[in-house]
Amino acid sequence: MPAHEVVVPLTARPLPRDTLARPLRDLRISVMDRCNFRCPYCMPRETFHEKYRFLGSQERLSFEEIVRLARLFVRLGVRKLRLTGGEPLLRANLADLIGDLTAIPGVDDVALTTNGVLLAKYASELKAAGLKRITVSLDSLDPQVFARMSGGFGGVDEVLAGIEHARRAGLAPIKINAVVQRGVNDHTVLELVEHFRGTGIIVRFIEYMDVGNRNHWTSEMVVPSKELAARIDARWPLTSLEPGYRGEVANRYAFADGRGELGFISSVSQPFCGDCSRVRLSSDGVVYTCLFAAHGTSLRDALRGGASDEELLEVIVGLWHRRTDRYSELRAGLRAAQREERKVEMFYIGG
Ligand code: GTP
Ligand code: 5AD
Ligand code: SF4
Ligand code: SF4
Repeated sequence: MPAHEVVVPLTARPLPRDTLARPLRDLRISVMDRCNFRCPYCMPRETFHEKYRFLGSQERLSFEEIVRLARLFVRLGVRKLRLTGGEPLLRANLADLIGDLTAIPGVDDVALTTNGVLLAKYASELKAAGLKRITVSLDSLDPQVFARMSGGFGGVDEVLAGIEHARRAGLAPIKINAVVQRGVNDHTVLELVEHFRGTGIIVRFIEYMDVGNRNHWTSEMVVPSKELAARIDARWPLTSLEPGYRGEVANRYAFADGRGELGFISSVSQPFCGDCSRVRLSSDGVVYTCLFAAHGTSLRDALRGGASDEELLEVIVGLWHRRTDRYSELRAGLRAAQREERKVEMFYIGG
């Protein structure tokens, strides 16, 4: 530790609140901007082709840099870490990072979001490193619909095999995230529910969002969770459950026959900004205080330029104190032109 560095005990620093009195509790770390899928709603092929310039390995934060920042965020109140991408399992030796992150005192929960294809290879290694649970993106079990939504990469069987490896490795709970788009995969929703009902695996349906600037989002493509829940409830009656924790993004429902639970993430029809305590870190070290932010603040140059922990903490606290974000609550009142202002892309900060 540099000699000039002053260690402030955890209790000495008041935990920051943003302008809406929201605390900082959840850090989402993107470890890789590349992905082995090309989901049109996230990384459309026409933009992300062979010539697209992804980050070089020197531009990405090293594991050491990520762990150092994670420790600082924990000092400011973060208790939950989620690793995302692009596809996080494309990052070499990811299990080493998981081992370091799960060992940070104060971290209660480390989770990983993946498209599942590489789980067959890595599930046991991740579990051995200390990962407890996992979330797999899977939009449809219909091979044609799946191919359309993954941009033609991967396959349903590969993802299901990955999920099975995760289950056998003891990762639990396993959650499935399915983005629902009207006219694309909404007719395959019941099949997805039926497949995982009674397995202990929790399916969560996500309303299609206008993240980034490249996915040609229209509100007509959103299937409101209420509509989806009514369709599922007509087949398998549902009862609503209390949130698992404050600020949980998914509304939870149990199958009335006791065969498990479902979730709905309704950021378009029922925004949840009021409790949003999430901060996002891109793989090249830029901090974003909202999924829909136009600008972030890079910590990488400060990190590499020898900034002390105190200096880095000052920057993060300042950002959080100034935070006013509540895009999803404002969305309905924005004109199309305002909605189309340049926003950060999902593959780059991981959703
Ligand atoms: P658990 O910890 O398992 O409860 O999940 P989580 O809250 O970390 O949610 P997850 O990372 O699985 O997020 C699922 C999806 O919800 C994301 O891919 C996004 O589409 C959406 N989502 C998550 N956080 C936010 C957010 O802060 N704002 C908005 N608008 N959407 C979000
Ligand atoms: N709307 C909603 N969810 C999205 N995801 C990616 N793009 C969108 C979008 N436009 C989800 C993916 C995955 C997670 C990383 O983010 O399905 O579950
Ligand atoms: Fe890759 Fe996930 Fe984006 Fe699809 S949604 S392109 S799997 S990062
Ligand atoms: Fe948080 Fe922004 Fe999502 Fe609202 S839109 S919940 S402020 S990340």
